[in-house]
Amino acid sequence: MTDSLTVRDNRTGLEYDVPILDGTIKAADVGKIKTGEDAPGLAVYDPGFVNTASCRSSVTFIDGDKGILEYRGYPIEQLAEKSNFLEVAYLLVHGALPTKAEYESWVHEITYHTFVHENVKGFMEGFRYDAHPMGMLMASVGALSTFYPDARNISDADNRHMQIVRMIAKMPTLGAWSYRHAQGKPFVYPDNELSYTANFLSMLFKMSEQRFEADPRLVKALDVLFILHADHEQNCSTNAVRSVGSSQVDPYSAVAAGVAALYGPLHGGANEAVLRMLRRIGSKENIPDFIKGVKDGNERLMGFGHRVYKNHDPRAQIIKKACDDVFEVTGVNPLLEIAQELEKIALEDEYFVKRKLYPNVDFYSGLIYEAFQFPPEMFTVLFAIGRTPGWLAQWLELVQDKEQKIARPKQIYTGDRTLDFVPAAERWA
Ligand SMILES: CC(C)(COP(=O)(O)OP(=O)(O)OC[C@H]1O[C@@H](n2cnc3c(N)ncnc32)[C@H](O)[C@@H]1OP(=O)(O)O)[C@@H](O)C(=O)NCCC(=O)NCCS
Repeated sequence: MTDSLTVRDNRTGLEYDVPILDGTIKAADVGKIKTGEDAPGLAVYDPGFVNTASCRSSVTFIDGDKGILEYRGYPIEQLAEKSNFLEVAYLLVHGALPTKAEYESWVHEITYHTFVHENVKGFMEGFRYDAHPMGMLMASVGALSTFYPDARNISDADNRHMQIVRMIAKMPTLGAWSYRHAQGKPFVYPDNELSYTANFLSMLFKMSEQRFEADPRLVKALDVLFILHADHEQNCSTNAVRSVGSSQVDPYSAVAAGVAALYGPLHGGANEAVLRMLRRIGSKENIPDFIKGVKDGNERLMGFGHRVYKNHDPRAQIIKKACDDVFEVTGVNPLLEIAQELEKIALEDEYFVKRKLYPNVDFYSGLIYEAFQFPPEMFTVLFAIGRTPGWLAQWLELVQDKEQKIARPKQIYTGDRTLDFVPAAERWA
């Protein structure tokens, strides 16, 4: 077997051997196929990069057909059960699990960078009372680049490390403050005695008590949710981070682009849609009618189906387990019963089986977030906090990758050409 593709260009009758490496051909090799010396090379048209590899990456592996998700080679199930978010963040950023000393130093560094400059507090207070927390998060992450202008020195490894620590550390502070602002409640400063996730809950919910100590089962559940969202290879927001980062801008600006991409309903908003759907169904008796509507093509069963996972979404099964732990503390969300029955019916229905539609990560995550009493606008903020180590690991890989160039796709031009400009005074005369 030869690892190459023989292409015959019927426009010229010429044949080309295009090497195949790692299951891909190089776009530059396709570009050598031309109708003449000065003619443009053949290009690939791929809106949304559906079948285009933009990088080599050793961060996350996904096999959608088999329902496999691994960070740096470790299965998500094992990490969710036996690790914690900061250790997973270390693994993603550094590529290997930490030694005891490395872990302690990492946790110490992140814990002691959770505070933000008082001016950040000042400008966050300046947002409108009803500002969306994702808009506030996006703006404040971008603004951090002005507080740390040295961050633009991205070729210095120590400097990169510093910004990575700062960003993972400050994200919960900014996220929690975005929430408190909408609630009209005072901002709560970080408590360095608490774990990463417990501190986040404290900054969200603390009022007049000396110390806010969340139930450990809730802390664990939220920590697991962060782990599940920590990376997902070249998704829309990661691609945004890489694309913006490819201009060699500082990492705060690149991650702000990731937050912006996540803000969009096609990326981070499906769990909210699941809650709306469950509420509309209202009771178990209405499920058959609803399913009929889905099968008739009137609407989609939100939280089902995935572009990549065609067997099961491994994250969905872990979240289902976390649901039990959370509801043990908060009491059962009445929508859970509807969700479970809906899942059972759909998984037995030929329509869903035939199309390989299974619950995805968003089917149950909204129920958990609601049990924590988060308003739906906060769901994506939680996603962003979890995804930050993944964005940074991918950014780090990008800036050290000699093969990477500034992101600059081609286009197929469809507009006019060589028109003669007539000044306004003559056109309107
Ligand atoms: C995630 C999603 C966008 C993936 O879409 P995709 O891979 O492009 O799949 P397609 O849209 O091509 O769908 C393939 C078939 O399954 C059907 N389908 C896909 N998701 C469906 C859903 N949630 N409910 C009902 N039918 C669905 C489509 O109608 C299509 O059927 P057809 O072949 O008869 O036309 C899609 O499954 C979806 O919209 N899910 C609901 C939203 C959601 O939960 N998003 C969060 C993702 S993490």
